[in-house]
Amino acid sequence: MDFLPFTRPSIDDATIAAVGEVLRSGWITTGPNCQRLEAELSAFCGGRPVRLVSSATASLEMALQIAGVGPGDEVVTCPLSWIATANVIMKVGATPVFVDADPATRNIDLDRLEAAITPRTRAVIPVDLAGLPVDRERLYAIAGRHGLRVVEDAAQSMGANWRGAPIGQTGDLVSFSFHANKNMTCGEGGCLVLNNEEEARLFEKLRLQGVTRFPDGTMDVDVLGGKANMTDIAAAIGLGQLKSLDAFNARRRELARLYFQHFDRELGCELPPQDFEQSNWHMFQPLLPLSRMAISRGEFIARMKEQGIGVGVHYPAMHLFTLFREQGYAAGRYPAAEDIGARTVTLPLFPAMRDEDVLRVCQAVSQTLRPVLS
Ligand SMILES: Cc1ncc(COP(=O)(O)O)c(C=O)c1O
Repeated sequence: MDFLPFTRPSIDDATIAAVGEVLRSGWITTGPNCQRLEAELSAFCGGRPVRLVSSATASLEMALQIAGVGPGDEVVTCPLSWIATANVIMKVGATPVFVDADPATRNIDLDRLEAAITPRTRAVIPVDLAGLPVDRERLYAIAGRHGLRVVEDAAQSMGANWRGAPIGQTGDLVSFSFHANKNMTCGEGGCLVLNNEEEARLFEKLRLQGVTRFPDGTMDVDVLGGKANMTDIAAAIGLGQLKSLDAFNARRRELARLYFQHFDRELGCELPPQDFEQSNWHMFQPLLPLSRMAISRGEFIARMKEQGIGVGVHYPAMHLFTLFREQGYAAGRYPAAEDIGARTVTLPLFPAMRDEDVLRVCQAVSQTLRPVLS
């Protein structure tokens, strides 16, 4: 039986041909394909300026710079995310301040957000975990009351919406990832949705050594930039993917529905929030009933693998990583994030999956868990 990974990109022949064309063209770094993809992403985001980068980590870090975040500032976020979300805060010299997850949404607990805001808080980074959007109305109401910038970590929520408003069309700075596992990929890559051309211009400088080029061939550098431009090879993949994004996400929703229909409810797993309107179903993540299981999560993953099924973990609560423990964080500080982080498993969900694959995964989960439950 074929191995079923927890995710796999769908790249069509036209996209593969387009990549071949770029490779043959003699121009493989940032060029016309990047320009086209930026224009198409801007249309996708309701006409807002969008700029590409080599990763969403880079776009988040530069978004914080654009928001004026630096040493001495605090940035509020949730410990249940990919570590990039907190790393970028530290990279710009600021301090991450965590707010626990809401057990119902697994996103930042907006009831606790305000209590974490201090006079040093400059920004908040909400994360749409698994593609389920954070409540944008409540979030922006709180940010507005406290004069905070918002850098939306929408790495996982491309094509999702909040009450009908597509993520990226509204809000402050919005960062998407085009990493290989995302609903739309460029292999690697990301983009930032900005508020105006002035911010976009600064972003362009930050992503390429701070350089401004002039028509006479001369240049100047007036800010310290880095190297995070996207290649035309990656952009060619992105152009093909963007065409299919709606279809990909529709298929993901169908597969998620099938999971809800066929998942063995007697196992006592906690299924993810059942949102078929707003989420883009980037991942399907039940929480294991660990306290009733005679095996660990690692053993569960190993037994699923023996049955030909890939299972991921996204993510352990990040404040328990050594980097943060060394700063004084300890277990018990953010109990909801810790509980979710300890029990979560990512089951296969990607557009090319067949309906039968979902049944196969559900059966394997039952067969693995039933004999080891007390
Ligand atoms: C929530 C979240 N934030 C940030 C990132 C960083 O994205 P990238 O890998 O494109 O740098 C990711 C990617 O995995 C992510 O899932």
